[in-house]
This record gives sequence, structure tokens and C-alpha cells, in this order.
Amino acid sequence: MSNKRIDALSPGTFTLDGKDIEFGPGDTLMQAVTRAGGYIPHLCWMENFLPHGSCRLCTVKVNGRMGAACTVLASTGQNVESNTEELRTLRRTLLQMLFVEGNHFCPSCEKSGNCRLQATAYEAGMTGPHFEEFYPNRPVDASHPEVWLDLNRCILCELCVRASRDVDGKNVFAISGHGIDAHLVVNSLSGLLGDSAIAVSDRAVHICPVGALLPKRQGFTVPIGQRRFDLHLVSASEGNAS
Ligand code: SF4
Ligand code: FES
Repeated sequence: MSNKRIDALSPGTFTLDGKDIEFGPGDTLMQAVTRAGGYIPHLCWMENFLPHGSCRLCTVKVNGRMGAACTVLASTGQNVESNTEELRTLRRTLLQMLFVEGNHFCPSCEKSGNCRLQATAYEAGMTGPHFEEFYPNRPVDASHPEVWLDLNRCILCELCVRASRDVDGKNVFAISGHGIDAHLVVNSLSGLLGDSAIAVSDRAVHICPVGALLPKRQGFTVPIGQRRFDLHLVSASEGNAS
């Protein structure tokens, strides 16, 4: 077993932007920083779920090398940089790419103010898309009586896949295809949510960080302007619930 691996399985301390962070055996950088009350931007990571490592928003520099904080194991003596101009610029670019790759119309989205993508982009100082919009032609699946799926807003974070599989025990979702062709698919004969095993009480329905998966008929229960990220920056908001 390498010394690095032994380090990762023992408690210790690393530094994040010059500040000491303690970690426990097997912690990733993200887990240790979150537990210490710190914040590294993220979209596809959530406490208590296996990391997916796909959005790359959590990219940090570890001893000078880029890595995803949600997948890199903490080890003693690491010098981790997160809040640097280089990494802030990289994250803004990743966010802009996410926005142009889908169809995100915040003013008409029920998730506005509770959306982690929107809130992260605001905090990152993103003021426009920068890149040309793709305007992809994607379907809305309204076939289920209680659950709405709008693939225009899906950022392929895979959280619903993990929640349905690991919490609900149903495997309702999967990601199919690669690269630009990657898309969320529903596990039913018709491919529609209405024919799947999903229930509105499933964790998968409530975990989406954007407005792609939403319970129906629950719009504007909390008025715009009084929602979670309307009141607090994403970095200052408690917990990691979507
Ligand atoms: Fe993530 Fe939501 Fe898309 Fe599922 S529907 S992959 S939770 S963005
Ligand atoms: Fe680490 Fe998405 S939060 S890659």
C-alpha cells in the first residue's frame, strides 16, 4: 500500500487557501471542507451520496495540480487552493458552458431562487452566457400525474440516478450516451415517467439541483424573492439539500 493511501485512511490536516482543515479517514477534500464549515462550489456532489465527479465545478489545485475536490482523497500536508482568480475564472467558464448547453430560462422556472446552478452562477459573478447558445431541442415529460421532467434544464449531475437507485431502490433514471449526446433516460417501456415506478414522495424527485425534476402543482408556495438562495449566497446557505 502506498504512503499516500495510508495517509488517506488516517486522520490529519491539509490547508485550504492557507487555512488548516482537519479530515477523517477516507474523507474527500469536499467532505472535510464542508464538515469544517467551508465551501467549494459544486453541482453534482451532495453529502451522503457517492461522488460522481462530472460537473468539475469543484476543481481545486492540490499541490499545484488540478483535481475535483469531491473525488480527491484528503491527505496530510496537501496544499489545496480554491479561491484563486484562475479557479474562479475556470468555474465561470464551466457555468457558462452549462447554461448555453441547455435551455435555462430562469424567470419562468419554478426553481428560480432555489436553483443551485443559478445561485452558483450569481456568486461566481457570471453576467452573461459568453458562448453562443445551443438552443437544443429537448422534450418535456409531463406524463406522470405528480412529477414533471423538463430535460431542457437537466445538467446531467446524476443525483436523481443515485437517489433513485441508492435511496428509493427503484433505478428509475440512467444517463445514456456520451459527450454532447449524453442525456437522462427513464426506465420504463415507453421511456416516459408516467409508466415508470417513480412516486412523488421519492427522494429522486426532490434532489434535482435545477428545475428539471419537480413535483407538479406546487408552484410559488414560497414567493420569488424569499427563497433559499434569494436570502443567502449559495456559499453561506446551510447544508447541501437541493
Ligand atoms: Fe441532475 Fe436533475 Fe438532470 Fe437528474 S434531472 S440528472 S437531478 S439535473
Ligand atoms: Fe465535484 Fe461536480 S461537485 S465534479
